[in-house]
Amino acid sequence: MTVRVVLGAQFGDEAKGKIADYLAADARYVVRSGGGPNTGHTIGLPEGVVVLHQVSCGVLRTGVTAISGPGMVIQPFKLEEEILELERRGLRRGEILLSDRAHVILPLHELEDAWQDSLRAQRSPGSALGTTRSGIGPAYADRYARWGIRLGELSRPALLRERLELLYATKPEVPDLPPIDDLATRLAEVGSRLDPMIRATEPIIWGAIERGEPILLEGAQSALLDIDFGTYPYVTSSHPTSAGALMGSGIPPTELDAAIGVAKAYSTRVGAGPYPTEDTGERGEHLRRVGGERGATTGRPRRCGWLDLVLLRYAARLNGYTSLAITKVDVLGGMDEIPVCVAYRLPDGSTSRDAPPSRAEDLAKVEPVYATMPGWPEFHARAKERIRREGASALPSTLRRYLDFISEETGVPVEYVGYGAHRDETVTLGPPTVRRHRSAMTAWSG
Ligand code: GDP
Ligand code: IMO
Ligand code: MG
Repeated sequence: MTVRVVLGAQFGDEAKGKIADYLAADARYVVRSGGGPNTGHTIGLPEGVVVLHQVSCGVLRTGVTAISGPGMVIQPFKLEEEILELERRGLRRGEILLSDRAHVILPLHELEDAWQDSLRAQRSPGSALGTTRSGIGPAYADRYARWGIRLGELSRPALLRERLELLYATKPEVPDLPPIDDLATRLAEVGSRLDPMIRATEPIIWGAIERGEPILLEGAQSALLDIDFGTYPYVTSSHPTSAGALMGSGIPPTELDAAIGVAKAYSTRVGAGPYPTEDTGERGEHLRRVGGERGATTGRPRRCGWLDLVLLRYAARLNGYTSLAITKVDVLGGMDEIPVCVAYRLPDGSTSRDAPPSRAEDLAKVEPVYATMPGWPEFHARAKERIRREGASALPSTLRRYLDFISEETGVPVEYVGYGAHRDETVTLGPPTVRRHRSAMTAWSG
């Protein structure tokens, strides 16, 4: 396998970072291709927990190059801090490269993000998106309006100054913008410090493809947060799909060998928006507590609920998953029964299995139809040790049934299972054996 992509299959925070880190052991390049500081990818290393935001997990491995690719929006001051922190902890092991085409998030984008969300709330109570306030939406908007600033421009002071002035002129309504002179100076300074890492990254990637070197694309955000295919407007502003990952790194679609969708054995969502399988009762609280469900970027408590196979089938179709990674199965350990949503009942009384309604307000009105699956025992240290020693054959049989059910219902084989937060707590079930296209057709009725 040469080019593989790891993608979020739910609402984000599925443990993509941990799965990407697991697969990075066999990669030469690990490439981030979208999003920016809204991302929080947590990896439990022997040295302690690390949360990556704008650098790919390739940085954690010697001999791997970590690329922050063209499709990203990068906050350079935060990026520098992240790199310095990795250095301080002795974790900057792989080389870091930054695409000269990635766009820059400025402090004004962060202010604008907060201002936009408060405007939404003022106009219509409850309509704030609950963004991470890291400037993602405004920075992508400026990118498409074609007055954004790119990383490669930070080292051109005259051009940078001209761009900043234009950008400021477009935002008369945003309060408290920092003085332009000060910002221009600070940007040029951070730009010169980052300059040795800033490159045209696509020729490097193409060279690697030609040499057959393994490349891993580390997706951020998730299918249901996609700007077009997610629960608009409660989405992010990028394309966290396999197509988006290819576009955001400059890799032709014909080069993709595998797409791995990552889903928790249950589900979470942080921020506003429809969430049919949300459990606001005691069991949801249990998931939050046992799963440690707090945002890795903002610290907000995550909303918790059950696995939604309607959304997972949709994500599989949208991304062409060749396999799935099901994570956090240990969090469900000790429950007698586990609800899994297999279909939606719509307000007109009909049921739907295949695609969620495209309008968020309609998705908010569906009623999940649950199947109940038998639970499995808690994952004590001894059980984890057995899995480490014996591999997938040591997984509880009811968990295997749960995983088989997910495969049957989505048409996508489960290839990896995460059973703990630590780097080595992932087990491989074996290479995918079901052919994607054929199995997918039998799984989807629509
Ligand atoms: P990402 O954004 O998809 O990389 O996910 P996050 O890092 O935001 O959230 C996943 C959280 O679950 C982190 O706190 C991880 O340390 C933790 N985690 C990852 N995999 C597992 C697992 O299999 N079991 C448990 N209990 N925790 C896990
Ligand atoms: P990772 O890569 C979970 C959510 C925010 C908000 C919406 C829009 O760690 O899985 P934005 O700041 O992007 O404009 O916010 O999207 N969101 C995420 N939720 N995980 C993420 O990334 C997210 N990135 C954005 O909470 O609801
Ligand atoms: Mg996260």
